[in-house]
Amino acid sequence: MTTLPPGSRYPLPRFPANFLWGVSTSAHQIEGAAAEDGRGPSSWDAFAAEPGRVKDGSNASVATDHYHRYPEDVALLKELGVDAYRFSVSWSRVLPDGAGAVNKAGLDFYDRLVDALCEAGVRPVPTLFHWDTPLALEQAGGWLERDTAYRFAEYVDVVAARLGDRVGRWITLNEPAELTLLGHALGAHAPGKRLLFDALPVAHHQLLAHGLAVEVLRGRGSGSIGIANSHGPTYAASDSKEDRGAADFYDLLLNRLFADPLLLGTYPDGIAEMLPGPVEEDLRLISQPLDWYGINYYQPTKVGAHDPSLPADFAGIEIPPEMPFSVHRLEGHQRTAFDWPVVPAALYELLVGFKEEYGDRLPPVVITENGCSYEGIDDQDRIRYLDGHLRALNDAMDSGVDVRGYFVWSLMDNWEWAEGYAQRFGLVHVDFDTLARTPKASFRWLRDELRAQR
Ligand code: BGC
Repeated sequence: MTTLPPGSRYPLPRFPANFLWGVSTSAHQIEGAAAEDGRGPSSWDAFAAEPGRVKDGSNASVATDHYHRYPEDVALLKELGVDAYRFSVSWSRVLPDGAGAVNKAGLDFYDRLVDALCEAGVRPVPTLFHWDTPLALEQAGGWLERDTAYRFAEYVDVVAARLGDRVGRWITLNEPAELTLLGHALGAHAPGKRLLFDALPVAHHQLLAHGLAVEVLRGRGSGSIGIANSHGPTYAASDSKEDRGAADFYDLLLNRLFADPLLLGTYPDGIAEMLPGPVEEDLRLISQPLDWYGINYYQPTKVGAHDPSLPADFAGIEIPPEMPFSVHRLEGHQRTAFDWPVVPAALYELLVGFKEEYGDRLPPVVITENGCSYEGIDDQDRIRYLDGHLRALNDAMDSGVDVRGYFVWSLMDNWEWAEGYAQRFGLVHVDFDTLARTPKASFRWLRDELRAQR
């Protein structure tokens, strides 16, 4: 007999025995130690230093101080009982200038972390890039330059050479869509460029970097490679031709611009012509088979034709009038502290839709991020969120989508990019004054659910 923890309607459905349970974090959001042991600055250090860029004026120079406190965090992972931990490697900690000299002390940190994880029986799943471009490369043009993709491949080789003996599963990039759209088209994230459609090369160069990294990792014998792409269903605001057209366009930007080249080896109509370089040749690299496809899912979006009477912002991010769409508020759902609608059914729709769209070209899926921002340590809302999304995921599996794993975002409260320390996504509460960690109710709920699964 299992006792039902508060917030859970029933015990969760049973997932397959080899289903991979994990939690995710990223380097810039947790490590801190920004100027320690030879780490070079990244695009996000520079961005946060510009007045007005981060809502609470904070930066991640301390964050959760995971760089020093990782043994405590690994102990939390062990107590939680997850199979795997997805973290990211900071490129500029390993290569302070993004290229050239390797910073041994930086690489040593990841070596220690991976050892500690292995010792705790938690599989390390490193993401090789989670938005923190080395500042030296950013200043040389960053992802607008093709060259950055080649520098990335060199960096990946350095990391794989050091950690590859203990790491079985790699993630090349996190959410190239956000770095393209938020970072380069709309300017809400680092590097803060507002290039609108001129940001497209950033998408292509990241995808090229992914392709090059896959080659490097295969060359080093890795048999399990994926990518973490953010995806979400798009709902048209009405059935009108204009609203449907706008929703299709938004869907193209968020979903198809990244999934099509990876899974089909093509760009959606009209895109390839707008991209620089030998695109056809690049697409062959970009579409090399993946062992699994990572999806970060948070929320669906309701989109209509550009409507000046609607707020010109989406989750606080200003959408310039040149963009041919407006985002509508999705009514009728609970909302997180970030004001994001909670729609577990949209995860089901997304997965079943992906299977319909990509068929046999879709490798097994892993949910590489899913989670919510709420205040408080007795976080019953987070339990309900996770419970609902896991049920939707299980339903999608029953409908024939091959899903092999689920990672909660995030292990602990952290530095939420342009929101600063305001949004708390953690299963573990972090007091940003004392840096004390306190497991929340959701941590205990997940720990008990994982025990029950086994
Ligand atoms: C990112 C995370 C971020 C989370 C919540 C994802 O887009 O990969 O770094 O913290 O969403 O906003």
